[in-house]
Amino acid sequence: MESSALREDHPSPYNIQIKNVRRIYKINNKNNKKEKGLFTAIDNFNLDVKYGEFLTIVGPSGCGKSTLLDLISGLALPDEGSIYIDGKEITGPALDRGFVMQGYALFPWRTVTQNVQFGLEIQKVEKKERQRIAQDYIELVGLAGFEDRFPYELSGGMKQRVAIARALAYNPKVLLMDEPFAAVDAQTRELLQEELLRIWEQTHKTVVFITHSIDEAVFLAQRVVVMSSNPGSVKEMIDVDLPIPRKLGDIKISPDFNWIVHKVWKSLHNEEDDPVHISDKRSLEEEIDPNTVI
Ligand SMILES: Nc1ncnc2c1ncn2[C@@H]1O[C@H](COP(=O)(O)OP(=O)(O)OP(=O)(O)O)[C@@H](O)[C@H]1O
Ligand SMILES: [Mg+2]
Repeated sequence: MESSALREDHPSPYNIQIKNVRRIYKINNKNNKKEKGLFTAIDNFNLDVKYGEFLTIVGPSGCGKSTLLDLISGLALPDEGSIYIDGKEITGPALDRGFVMQGYALFPWRTVTQNVQFGLEIQKVEKKERQRIAQDYIELVGLAGFEDRFPYELSGGMKQRVAIARALAYNPKVLLMDEPFAAVDAQTRELLQEELLRIWEQTHKTVVFITHSIDEAVFLAQRVVVMSSNPGSVKEMIDVDLPIPRKLGDIKISPDFNWIVHKVWKSLHNEEDDPVHISDKRSLEEEIDPNTVI
């Protein structure tokens, strides 16, 4: 699938448009407990995300990645600027966006099936249809046989799959993911990365995915956004022109993958590109630890 292909029924190529966004937090003033100070978490933030694009965001801790995702989800609103989904300004949360947060955020009193059906209940989908859709997504994320388990009976990776199935089941146009694989072991993480890519190829969702792992960012994305901090803004956008579908084992040994990982790493570490390497990027085989974490 050429996933960056635009949907024909949409005149604008952009699913998400972020225009000059600023987000200010009120913080405690330690010298004067009655007065609040102001902290600008992100400022002058501009980003357009295409329909069906898989976009990853990396940046130093505290640079405003989660703040940005909260704004796209509608859980918070910008202090300045606007965010548009399908050309319509966001005014709050809605079912056109699915949010997978770090730490799963499942309902502990609901079984796998009941968790996955949650958004469908809000949409007032009829019970039989709800069950059918939930089952499809449970199978898609590889959890058939675990339908009636409660979250405490699942491993971390399985909980993460439930969170992904729940976000996908009500068919949001946009999937927002905030370090969704940070808490799982390395092997499960690689498995989930491949599964997520497979699901993305099947469902044509627009995905915005935050991670601290450079190789995860490059493996998954069509485009990596590197953020700078104080205040958070877009530092650089790096295209990932690796072929799709991708298999981790093949991709990680390819010079192209390693060159892009290197490029993201350099951007994060404020290093200029070396013009000698730039002139022949495809022959560059840098020694980069594929598990580089920022
Ligand atoms: N509710 C809040 N009140 C005050 N300041 C906040 C609040 N939430 C976040 N911040 C501040 O805003 C900045 C951005 O926070 P945010 O959580 O968006 O960073 P992040 O890039 O997601 O970091 P990490 O990679 O560690 O998750 C930080 O300096 C943080 O201290
Ligand atoms: Mg965060």
